[in-house]
Order: sequence, then structure tokens, then C-alpha cells
Amino acid sequence: MTNETKRSSFTGKIGFVLAAAGSAVGLGNIWRFPYLAAKYGGGIFLLTYLVLAVTFGFALMTAEIAIGRKTGLSAVGAFQKLSKKFTFVGYLGALVPALILPYYSVIGGWVTKYLVDFATGSAKTTADGGAYFSAFIGSDWQAAVWFLIFLGVTALIVLFGVEKGVEKVSKIMMPVLVVLALAVAIYTCTLPGAVEGIKYYFIPNFNAFSFNTVLAAMGQLFYSMSLAMGIMITYGSYMKKEVSIESSVTQIEIFDTGIAFLAGLMVIPAVFSFTGAAPQSAGPGLMFISLPQVFANMGIIGSVVGTIFFLLVLFAALTSSISLMETVVSIVGDKFKLGRKLSCLIVFVVSVLLGLVSCFGYGMWAEIKVIGMQFLDFFDFLTNSVIMPVIALFTCIVVGFVIKPKAVEDEVEECGAKFKRKALFRVVIKYVAPICIVLILLSSVVGVYSEPITNALANLIGHDAAAGVMKYFVV
Ligand code: TRP
Repeated sequence: MTNETKRSSFTGKIGFVLAAAGSAVGLGNIWRFPYLAAKYGGGIFLLTYLVLAVTFGFALMTAEIAIGRKTGLSAVGAFQKLSKKFTFVGYLGALVPALILPYYSVIGGWVTKYLVDFATGSAKTTADGGAYFSAFIGSDWQAAVWFLIFLGVTALIVLFGVEKGVEKVSKIMMPVLVVLALAVAIYTCTLPGAVEGIKYYFIPNFNAFSFNTVLAAMGQLFYSMSLAMGIMITYGSYMKKEVSIESSVTQIEIFDTGIAFLAGLMVIPAVFSFTGAAPQSAGPGLMFISLPQVFANMGIIGSVVGTIFFLLVLFAALTSSISLMETVVSIVGDKFKLGRKLSCLIVFVVSVLLGLVSCFGYGMWAEIKVIGMQFLDFFDFLTNSVIMPVIALFTCIVVGFVIKPKAVEDEVEECGAKFKRKALFRVVIKYVAPICIVLILLSSVVGVYSEPITNALANLIGHDAAAGVMKYFVV
């Protein structure tokens, strides 16, 4: 295995699965999944997510990897080659990592700060139910400095092209992260009162179900598996013909979902143990509030465990942010015919500006809301709940009706093995996924404008009936 062959294609199935899983596993699994699960009803969110993963996630990831391998191109070129009319889907996909990178780095900054807190032993103040955390993210410049450190490190690594080094370290640290997460989850689940949390996480409460649950779970699925943004198309373009797409997809999904599931098991029972109830205002800060409490509870070893844990999370976050930035830099470079240094600088500056907006959104700009959301939530919503579903929808249309599912199915069978879930793939990509996505997108619009719509509906069908209908749209 020389460096030369490595660059042009992944050396085999394991190489491919590890690289794709490396992009997939990040803050999405450890930070985002638990807080969404807590917010959207626990068990019902978990169930929805799992159902979507084996249908939507499976079909879309298969389609994207196959498109990449078939065309040998990354998203923009691939869509152009399949159908000129749909080139815009590739561009739309390129926009997503550019919008994610800035706020991803804000969260990365929080992780860095917590790591330093634990490492220097000044983390005692974190066991106070969130006051310390709120003060920190609302501190404007202090939070901004940590964000700049995280983004700066990411940029330097991308600039000097030393990603491989970080990836190597991360390949060792990933399994350690899994083992540590498992240990912490077991500890958390034995805390007094945690049983209620375990029940909340495992037993679906169908009353908590709404379209928003599906929208949130779908957005999380795309985000966590790096789907609907062209990433998997690029990965597919490096995949060798003899490697099985189907079983690679299965393994990536199991890996990614497994880590997210474990993270939920670390965070949610802890919240119940410390507050005695479901998290009231479960937002992006959940992990930063509940885990430090778990570590504080562990006594003296807590600070060691906390330090190691945040170090591992930092590495998972860094590999993802590097790959996000790398994607954006190469798109900018190709598109505007710029050198690597200059494109890097441009992406860095734009990300600083966008990231600062998210950062100050918790402090001096807290009063400013975009469609009722703080800036960070808004960027997150815009990418995960709007742009990515739209891209997924068009991907389904292109595969289902333009190039036809058979093109993908043949590509999957290139490796010589039969495509076992062909029927499932075909139904999902042609009908189930596009219809669901349209319904869900409509419902998200209804959710965002729920007040005027409820009022209008109340005039038509009466107050109670309107409230009955709307409960399926708004959480
Ligand atoms: N999937 C990553 C995570 O779970 C986040 C992510 C989204 C990402 N898009 C990406 C990572 C593109 C690398 C490349 O955290």
C-alpha cells in the first residue's frame, strides 16, 4: 500500500468504511443526538430515528455512494454528468458544509474550553445545573476566543495539509472514545433516579409524536451521516469497483448510530438523575451541563475522566471540522481558480464572521431572533431542516426518475454480490422518501409560522379543533 494508491482510491472495504465513518462520527453523534432525543420525547425520537436510518438513510447513502463511484466525480460534476438540469443540486450541496463549519466550530470551541477546564482542575464550577455554562456562552468575547482557537487549529491543519496525522491519531482515539463512553454510560445509568431517564429514552411515548419529530430525526440522520451535502458522493468517487456498497453502508450506519445511541445513554439518564425530570429547556447546551455534573459526581477520578472524555470528543470534532473545511476550500479553489492558501484564507475569514454571529447570538445579540430562533439554532435549522431535505428530495428525483434506480442498482452489483435490499431501495427512493420529505418540509413551514396559521385555522374550524390539528406540527 503506497501513498500513491491511497490517494487515488481507498485500498479496500475497511479503508473505505473507516474513512466514511471518520467523517460521519463527530459532534453530531455526541453533542447533537442526545439533545434532540431529550427534546423530542426520548423513546419516540429514538424509534423514529432508527426506522429512518434503515430506510431513508440506507437508500440515500447507497444512492450517493453509487452516484459518486459511477461518475467518478464529486457532487457538482456528478449531478452535471447525470443531468444538466440538476447541476444546482450539487451547488446546493456545496453550500451546506460552508454553513455548518462556522457553528460547528463554535461548539468545537465549547469542547476545547471544557477540556482546558477539566485539565487545569478549574471545572468544579460546572456542577451547578447550567449557570456556569450559560455565563460562558453568553460571555461574548470569551466564547469567541475559544471558537477562534478551534477554527484556527482546523484552518492550520487544512492549510499545511497535515490531516493525515490527525486522522491517524483519531483512528486510535475513536475506539478509546467508544470504550470510555460505554464506561461513563454504565456509570450514569446506575446513578440514583437514572431509571426514569432510561425509561424515557427507551420506551416510546406516542403522544409526543409529531411531524416535527420526524423532521428533527431526518435532519439529524442527514447531519450525522454526512448525507445530502455531496460528501458521500465524493467518498464514493474514490471507492473501488470491487468493494461492496451495500455492506459498507450497513457498517457505516451501525457504527454511526451506535455511537449516537451510546451518547444518548450517557446524557439523558444523567439529566433525570440530577433534575428528577425530563429536561425542560433541552437545547444545544445539554451535553455541557449534564456531563460535567456526572464527572463532578465521580469525585476525584471525575476530573481525569472528564479530561480524557473532552479530549476524545475534541478529536472527533476536529476530524469532522477538518473534513468540512477541506470540502469548502476545495470547492472555493476549483470554482474561482484560486490557490490553496488563498481559498483557505477566504473560507477562514467568512467562517469567522458567520461563527461570531452564532457566538454573539448567546450574548449581546440574544435579543435578535430569526424566525424565533437564536442564530446558532437558526443556521442549524436552515441546513438540517431545510436545505438538506431539499437536496435529499432532488437526489431521490434524479435517481428515481431521471437516471432510474436501475443505474444505482447495477452500480451496487458491480462488486459481484447481489443487492439484497433492492426492492426496499427502489420503493424508498422513488416513493416513500420523496413523499415524506415533501410532507415534512410543508409541516416545518407550518411549524415555524404556527401562530398565524393556528389563528386562521381557529377562525375556520374553531379553537379546539385547530389546536388538535396543530399539535401534530408543533412540539
Ligand atoms: N457527520 C458529522 C458529525 O456527526 C458532521 C458533518 C456534517 C460532517 N457534514 C460533514 C463532517 C461533512 C465531515 C464532513 O459530526
